[in-house]
Formats: sequence, structure tokens, C-alpha cells
Amino acid sequence: MRTPVVAGNWKMNGTRSSVASLLQGLKQGLQPGRTEVLVCAPYPFLNQVSDALSGTPIRWGAQNASQHESGAYTGEVSVAMLQEFGCSHVILGHSERRALYGEQDDLVADKFCAVQRAGLVPILCVGETLEQRDAGDTVAVVEEQLMAVVDRAGIAAFADAVLAYEPVWAIGTGRTATPEQAQEVHAALRQRLAQIDESVANGLSILYGGSVKAANAAELFGCPDIDGGLIGGASLDAEEFIAICQAAE
Ligand code: PGA
Repeated sequence: MRTPVVAGNWKMNGTRSSVASLLQGLKQGLQPGRTEVLVCAPYPFLNQVSDALSGTPIRWGAQNASQHESGAYTGEVSVAMLQEFGCSHVILGHSERRALYGEQDDLVADKFCAVQRAGLVPILCVGETLEQRDAGDTVAVVEEQLMAVVDRAGIAAFADAVLAYEPVWAIGTGRTATPEQAQEVHAALRQRLAQIDESVANGLSILYGGSVKAANAAELFGCPDIDGGLIGGASLDAEEFIAICQAAE
């Protein structure tokens, strides 16, 4: 049985006080269950998040990390630093990083390896644009993004990783993929991995992301190859996020 995972991606949002009330709401409202729940916060809030969530079942992570260990990389944050703040997971290859900051498959693969070397869990994001979907290239695009990392890190690395399918056209747009559309891509990704190692493929949690909310979560999570969600906007609202976590149960 795969572990359901619900991860909040706060993106570049929050203040010390909004983060405090969000964390308070999550601590009070979230019922412990079998779902692994985590929040991926902006770097400056990691200390606050770790203070608030230590000793609770909620875990936390970051939204990016450097591929380098340390040194002259102005503005970058290393995996070792994230480790010091108790991060368990790091989102990598989010489509916003790919589109806005020019991150390509090679770099994402390097970051994936750096995160795993430190014993943290990478959440690798893949997804197609609307043009690519309309051209019928969805599966080819996401498989290429996935295989760039498999080729570098090896299939065994995916025994300790999470994969997230996030169609770019569904992110922050209010336009969710239908459960059928999402399931089709999730199944294709799992099948691609199963060609190399069936047991790794069967054990891998594949999350769906893109306008997930309390109202559509249960239907999405009910699909056989959807093992949870990566939640942007709705993760900033404690009640909404908790309802999504409950849907994963
Ligand atoms: P959204 O973002 O839930 O706001 O669409 C998801 C994501 O980008 O991870």
C-alpha cells in the first residue's frame, strides 16, 4: 500500500503573523491519520515552522535547493542548511522554477541528487503546458522530464522520492485536470518506471497538483494512481488544507 502524501506549497506567500496563524490552525485541526502531511515554506519561515511543528506529525520542507554543497553561490541555499532546520522534503523542478528561472532537466537532476545525498526526500515535479497537451505531447513531455532524473540518479533513487504531476495549465488557474486526465498521466508515469523496476514503480507516491481544493480532492485522490496532492493556493488556508488532507484518508 502506498502512503498518501499531501504537501502544501506556500510559494512566495506569508508573513510572520500569517504563518503563525496558519500553523496554529493546522496543529489544532489536523487529525492524525495514515496520510503524510507536510508544508513547504519559504526559507525565512523555516525556523518558525520548525519551532511550531516539532513534535507534531506534520513535517516540513523547502521549495528549492542548490545543487552545490557550499561556497560562492550568492543568493542560494544548500541542502545542509535545510537539514539544519529540520526539513524532510524539497520540491524540485516546479514548473515555475522551470519557466521563470530557466531550470532545465539537467539542473533538476543535479538538485535531485544533492537532496538525496543529504537524506532528504525530493518531490520531483513534472508537467506539460497547454500547447504541449493540445499537440498530444503530454505523456512524451512528462516522461522526458522524469527520465532525465532517472537516468542521472538511477531507478533505486525513486524508492525514496515523491513524484508530482502538475499540468502547467492547471496551476493557480482554477482549472483542475479532470480525474480521468490526471489518472491517465499518473498511470503512464508509473508504467514507464515499471518498465525499469516494477517494485519501485508500485511503491512510488505520485501526487497530483494544480488547483486542488477541498471540493475536488476526494475525486482526484480516489483514482488508483493518484496518491495525494501538491497543494498551492489552498494550502494557505488551514481549514481548506485540512479538508484536503482528510480527503486523502
Ligand atoms: P495551485 O498550485 O494549487 O495553486 O494550483 C499548485 C502548485 O503549483 O504546486
